[in-house]
Amino acid sequence: MTEIDMNARASVVVMISGRGSNLAALIAACCQPDYPATIVGVISDREDAGGLKIAEAAGIDTVALQRGDFVSRSAHEAAILRHLIKIDPDLICLAGYMRILSADFVNRYQGKILNIHPSLLPKYPGLNTHQRALDAGDKEHGCTVHFVDEALDAGPVVAQSVVRIEPGDSEKSLADKVLKIEHALYVDAVRKVLTKFT
Ligand code: GAR
Repeated sequence: MTEIDMNARASVVVMISGRGSNLAALIAACCQPDYPATIVGVISDREDAGGLKIAEAAGIDTVALQRGDFVSRSAHEAAILRHLIKIDPDLICLAGYMRILSADFVNRYQGKILNIHPSLLPKYPGLNTHQRALDAGDKEHGCTVHFVDEALDAGPVVAQSVVRIEPGDSEKSLADKVLKIEHALYVDAVRKVLTKFT
């Protein structure tokens, strides 16, 4: 059997804050022989993030750098940066990473940070996206993968996926529907970005 040449793949660091279902989808994709990425590290800003266990089970290096363990936001970011510089990834994927990165951080990795957000940006940046779509009476909702820039949940869109909002939908049912399509979208978007730029 031909072995997969892992060196030919782009190296990806995934940053998380929580459950890690998008991380799990990316890990599964990276197990496919033709996927152009390999995950070389996972960084969490919470040591209780469920995604850390998912990464560890897959044999991926993890580190938890908690904001509370640093005197300031910039000291926290500097620690993350030191870790990233050691790994030197080709791409950074924010997958439920719930902190805003500073302009310095973003500029250092310009064009190399992707984020997935649970709305059809530019609609509903920030939190509570599902309830906001319901409150607005929207007929459609969805998720977006975009390059990260200095603004919150902004930056050039790579890909979007849409779900219909049905009359009986609640915040929970809508969140479940969107999460399901997020996984495929993120996997496809990473492939698209790496195929185009490597
Ligand atoms: C996902 O719904 C993702 O779109 C959202 O956090 C969730 C993480 O779930 N991200 C944001 O809201 C970023 N603004 P996961 O930990 O199961 O992947």
